[in-house]
Amino acid sequence: MFWEDRSILFTFVLVYISSQEAGLSEGHQNGQCADFNSTRWLYRQQRIKLQVQYLLLTRENQDCPQKFTQASLSQQSSHFNVSHPTKVIIHGYRVPGTKPSWVMELAQALLRAQNVNVLVVDWVYAASFAYNVVVENYKEVALQISVLINQLQNHGCKPESFHFLGISLGAHVAGFVGTLFEGKIGRITGLDPAGPMFKNADTYDRLDPSDAQFVDAIHTDSDYFGISIPVGHIDFFLNGGKDQNGCSRSRFSSMYGYVICDHMRALHVYVNALNSSCKLMGFPCSTYEDFLKGNCVDCEPFSGTCPVMGLSENSGITTSPLPKEQKLFLLTTSSPPFCAHHILLKLEVSDLEKSAEVEVTLMTGSQRTEQRLRLYVSHD
Ligand SMILES: *[C@@H]1O[C@H](CO)[C@@H](O)[C@H](O)[C@H]1NC(C)=O
Ligand SMILES: *[C@@H]1O[C@H](CO)[C@@H](O)[C@H](O)[C@H]1NC(C)=O
Ligand SMILES: *[C@@H]1O[C@H](CO)[C@@H](O)[C@H](O)[C@H]1NC(C)=O
Repeated sequence: MFWEDRSILFTFVLVYISSQEAGLSEGHQNGQCADFNSTRWLYRQQRIKLQVQYLLLTRENQDCPQKFTQASLSQQSSHFNVSHPTKVIIHGYRVPGTKPSWVMELAQALLRAQNVNVLVVDWVYAASFAYNVVVENYKEVALQISVLINQLQNHGCKPESFHFLGISLGAHVAGFVGTLFEGKIGRITGLDPAGPMFKNADTYDRLDPSDAQFVDAIHTDSDYFGISIPVGHIDFFLNGGKDQNGCSRSRFSSMYGYVICDHMRALHVYVNALNSSCKLMGFPCSTYEDFLKGNCVDCEPFSGTCPVMGLSENSGITTSPLPKEQKLFLLTTSSPPFCAHHILLKLEVSDLEKSAEVEVTLMTGSQRTEQRLRLYVSHD
């Protein structure tokens, strides 16, 4: 008991430090780099407006975000290039006083993979109230983003050149921008789209396949903060979409275990998929139970190639029309690069009179590693 309490304290301290430290450091390069908005309590007492602002990252300034406004488009000093595609990152609900520390990691992984403009939507101010108030704000944030996208269109950016990446509530913000553009936006990726107050919402109010030409989603915490229903053309459910390997499920660490670990896993796996050290492929199946039984090893619905997480066009789907709300299942491990081998082992035994035990040893050729599995075959 005593030790569990201590480990909790330690966890919270760590979380606190890392969210402070990993904010976009202000002092960097003589204070020239832009940072997320401040959410100091004093400031927040007069709740005036949403205070949405934009940070720009490109290959020219990977470590030092620039503030981005409409005026930036006519400024020589801005790194925005209208002939490049644009990724728009939208964070979700914020615990007051924190900054989305993962944004730089995602932005830099995107920039390593493609030469693009990365626009980070900073709505930290509006996202730091009580959850239900924040949910009231999200459409207005989407409306403001759509004004900026309109201006970018006037400068020659095509709607299909935009790819929105929204985490949690940010996925529904992206979905509503998509609604405002009548589905002409190129792509929306939802990273564990928020569940509370959205699961039973109309498709107009939440992310759904009509919001962009292609919508993909990754689900990692669908029994808590994530949404349990499919919301894209394809939906990857990692390890069934609810609980992730390596995320603690003890009662004492439940705050950390659920709020951060399962929910944020979608992001970490996605960042890893961008690094493409190994393929994260989803198998179409109607339920996780069926998948675990080995009933869904077939990529036939996609002409033999199952969808892969990451940036490839339509996740590698070449068949048309695109599926809608297609659930895809895969197993992942507890740490980077998260990829797991899926092996289907089929044992055919004649009728048994007693239960039997079978030991299977899996060996990999190159590293000569072994893994032993014990299987129990019961007689009924
Ligand atoms: C927060 O955003 C508003 C609106 O863009 C801006 O006026 C204000 O200076 C920002 N505050 C900080 C601390 O960046
Ligand atoms: C914008 O991108 C295009 C295509 O990559 C490139 O030819 C051009 O030089 C870039 N413009 C600026 C101002 O960097
Ligand atoms: C992605 O690759 C880069 C460069 O190889 C590496 O520095 C980074 O740690 C990798 N990130 C992840 C999440 O694997």
